[in-house]
Formats: sequence, structure tokens, C-alpha cells
Amino acid sequence: MPYVLAPSILSADFANLQRDVEMLNNSEADWLHVDIMDGVFVPNISFGFPVVKAIQKHAKKPLDVHLMIVDPDRYLSAFRDAGANILSVHLEACIHLHRTLQGIKALGMQAGVAINPHTPIESLSEIIADIDLVCVMSVNPGFGGQKFIENTYRKVKTLREMIRAGGSHAKIEIDGGVSMDNAAALLQAGADVLVAGNTVFSAKDPVKMISELKSIG
Ligand code: DX5
Ligand code: ZN
Repeated sequence: MPYVLAPSILSADFANLQRDVEMLNNSEADWLHVDIMDGVFVPNISFGFPVVKAIQKHAKKPLDVHLMIVDPDRYLSAFRDAGANILSVHLEACIHLHRTLQGIKALGMQAGVAINPHTPIESLSEIIADIDLVCVMSVNPGFGGQKFIENTYRKVKTLREMIRAGGSHAKIEIDGGVSMDNAAALLQAGADVLVAGNTVFSAKDPVKMISELKSIG
């Protein structure tokens, strides 16, 4: 079954952003994963609206925007205007998650929920039918190039069953530490979307690496 591969711009060369976005346009990548960090929800700051707009200006593929920020409700329309097609908020950052998801959909975007490694996947059981994408964090959010957390497989299997039982159409995305070593097992466990930052951008030939990752599916 073909799956969605979403290289993460966080690992791109920001001094050559247009070049790297065009590289992704001309590759087998399906989406561009765009990580937004506020230095509060996570211990790192990435980039904001002007950079997302610059990415969108050159991107020919959907922008999958992952918000690692507190109080994301304040910025939903700004991210839509900056070009987000899929917008994911963190479960841990939302007091009224159901309301936030309705807000994202009302703006015409697909609504995603990202979940930290320590958060039980069961926390999504009451809301699974309202979610378009579940972003299962397989590292602690904040940085690229971290080590994959093995417990992710168990979470993905439980989530796959929850989606089936709940009549949900949610896609399962894995974010963090994805490589040629674990991609096949993650797809086998039930993942639909793989994010890959370091694996793609530290490769000698990123287009070839994308092609190799895609050939696993
Ligand atoms: C981590 C980010 C990830 C990151 C993945 O907080 O959400 O999207 O870019 O990078 P790798 O694939 O290098 O772990
Ligand atoms: Zn991410």
C-alpha cells in the first residue's frame, strides 16, 4: 500500500530554503512537514509566519504544519493564511481540543492532533472520529535527529484498532527518528504517514533517499 512521506523542513538548509523546497517538489515526497516551535511548549524555537509563507510560495505539495506551541487557538487563521493544508495541534496544549479541531476545519484545513510520547493514546478515544490526522510523536518534540522511541509500535497498534472501532478516517502519522531501519515496521504496525527530517536531509542524495523510503511502502 502506498504511504505518505512527509520530509521535515526543520532539517533543511534555511539559507537555501527555496532550493530545498524545489528539491522536494522534484522528488517522490508527498507532503512537506513544517515544524513550528515556540520555545515554551518545547525547549526550542524554529520559525514563524514569514518562513511558512516563503515555503508555500515555492511548494507544489501540501503543507503539513505541526504546531508545538501553547494556546494554538490564537493562530489558527494565521497559519491557514500562511498556507497550511493540514494543521496539527498538540493534545497537551489544548484545553478544549474538540473546539480547536472544529475551528481548524471551519477554516478549510484538515485537523490533526499530535501526541507526546508519555501521553496515553487512549486519551484520544472520545474524539477519534473528529480527527483527520493523528501525529504520534516518536521522540520528545523540540529537535530533529533524535533517537526513535520503541514504545511507538505499541501505540500505533492500539491507535489503529481505536480508529477502526470508532469508524474514524484518521490517518496515523509518525514523527521523529524515522529511518530505513524502522520505516517498514512502522508501516506494518499501521502507520499511513511517515515524517523524516534527518534521514532525508543528511543523506548525500536526498532525492534518492526519498525514493528509497517510498519504495518500502
Ligand atoms: C520534532 C519534530 C519533527 C522533526 C523530525 O520535534 O516534530 O518533525 O523534524 O526530525 P527527525 O526525522 O530528524 O527526527
Ligand atoms: Zn513534527
